[in-house]
Amino acid sequence: MNADGRTRLNQTPEWTALAKHREELADTRLRELFAADPSRGTGYTLQVGDLYIDYSKHLVTDETLRLLRALAATTDVFGLRDAMFRGEKINVTEDRAVLHTALRAPRDAVIEVDGENVVPAVHAVLDKMGDFAGRVRSGAWTGHTGRRIKNVVNIGIGGSDLGPAMAYEVLRTFTDRDLTVRFVSNVDGADLHEATRDLDPAETLFIIASKTFTTVETITNATSARAWLLAALGDESAVAKHFVALSTNAEKVTEFGIDPDNMFEFWDWVGGRYSYDSAIGLSLMIAIGPDRFREMLDGFRLVDDHFRTAPAEANAPLLLGLLGIWYDNFLDAQTHAVLPYSHYLSKFTAYLQQLDMESNGKSVQRDGNPVEWQTGPVVWGTPGTNGQHAYYQLIHQGTKLIPADFIGFARPVAELSGELKAQHDLLMANFFAQTQALAFGKTAEEVRAEGVPEELVAHKTFRGDRPTTTILARELTPSVLGQLVALYEHKVFVQGAVWNIDSFDQWGVELGKVLAKRVEPALTEGAEVPGLDPSTKALVARYRELRGR
Ligand code: F6P
Repeated sequence: MNADGRTRLNQTPEWTALAKHREELADTRLRELFAADPSRGTGYTLQVGDLYIDYSKHLVTDETLRLLRALAATTDVFGLRDAMFRGEKINVTEDRAVLHTALRAPRDAVIEVDGENVVPAVHAVLDKMGDFAGRVRSGAWTGHTGRRIKNVVNIGIGGSDLGPAMAYEVLRTFTDRDLTVRFVSNVDGADLHEATRDLDPAETLFIIASKTFTTVETITNATSARAWLLAALGDESAVAKHFVALSTNAEKVTEFGIDPDNMFEFWDWVGGRYSYDSAIGLSLMIAIGPDRFREMLDGFRLVDDHFRTAPAEANAPLLLGLLGIWYDNFLDAQTHAVLPYSHYLSKFTAYLQQLDMESNGKSVQRDGNPVEWQTGPVVWGTPGTNGQHAYYQLIHQGTKLIPADFIGFARPVAELSGELKAQHDLLMANFFAQTQALAFGKTAEEVRAEGVPEELVAHKTFRGDRPTTTILARELTPSVLGQLVALYEHKVFVQGAVWNIDSFDQWGVELGKVLAKRVEPALTEGAEVPGLDPSTKALVARYRELRGR
């Protein structure tokens, strides 16, 4: 029992039952499960909005799913979900509400934080963003010299970069192709250099995205960007036409020299990694236009509503979260691959890495007690076909169990020419072939029947039983992107709820930040920094020598 009166997860009867069930299921093969239930391929599926989700190729039975749902019930996942949607302060270590769902709530919704309805403010900011995006897109908003804005550079990091950068790639065919939109995050000066070297300052708008407006990488890059602009345009007053801020911290924004009128606000109840449908999405909105942005929000909302109302048996985020728990906690999987079969989703997994790993990379429970079970997996992956020629070998025949999500679309994007459109069937043939090969493998008998010499049979045998979820949609639209992101947001929520961790703080990133601040003078001035360990001290000395100091 924990101090808060909660039975420790691994001492609940539901957990014990799952552990026992795992033993019973140990030798069960996917081939057998499909043979026993020919309707499994259509039965173990869900349709949520535009997303068709096939979970039939998982190492689970009806009983596994029942036991997993019982675990969700005993850990009150839906209770915490309702508290989140109501605006309760479920981010306990920061004493904050968790209301990214309010960012896509309809205008007439009422969601209160500390007795105040936050929805009108959400829509006021969306309207202000829409107005600004419209003016940039139409050319009504001009730079300091009166020239039209042709380039937008978003400067931010983590949640203030990954979301809009990912979504910009995903929705590229919906963007205004006359605008150049770039994303700078790394404090390595090369990032800003490459992003600006061919741009004309008179035509460039910088969007400084930082929830706290204290993040050193972002403020450093923003300061350098301002210097770059002023070197060309001379006049300090140019900043007002070329810099806008997205932040919760008006004071710091003003201190930096950005006019508060040019600030787009959001709130401390929006976590950084859950923020790209807030003001943080401004660069995306400029690229795709306010209408497409709202379509994306509608997609988010569709899955919010589904998560909020669908019964446990048909609740997709619950199901996907529980399947992850099955592998993570009962089948010893350490990682989870997300493999999109769309070039446009090339940054999707990187985005999910922050969403999932910053949320659920925790080892204490909500009350501060250590966890005694595995929490969030390592999330990784790149677009599927490229992965097939790189690391899929390990997924197929390695010693590790790697559950994977396959995400694909029935139709190629409209913009492709006929020939390139035709390639889509080949892409998707790979998509379907891979999940089949992973699930069912190839037996030694099948290999022998092909006339393979006996000494190669073991090498050419595939065990199968590599579990996958397939997510298929008709086409990639702003709404579908919103649906996909919300699906993963809520999946991550479900897992954090079961593991009894705070999925909405990120204390683990603080130590490195503090140490970096301390170490910097040792690099620049050779200062004697107290507390440097012998290895780091020697490395710093070598660095200075190589740096010519
Ligand atoms: O260091 C991690 C982090 O705090 C993330 O959670 C956040 O998304 C990122 O830094 C950027 O923070 P900010 O938006 O305040 O600049």
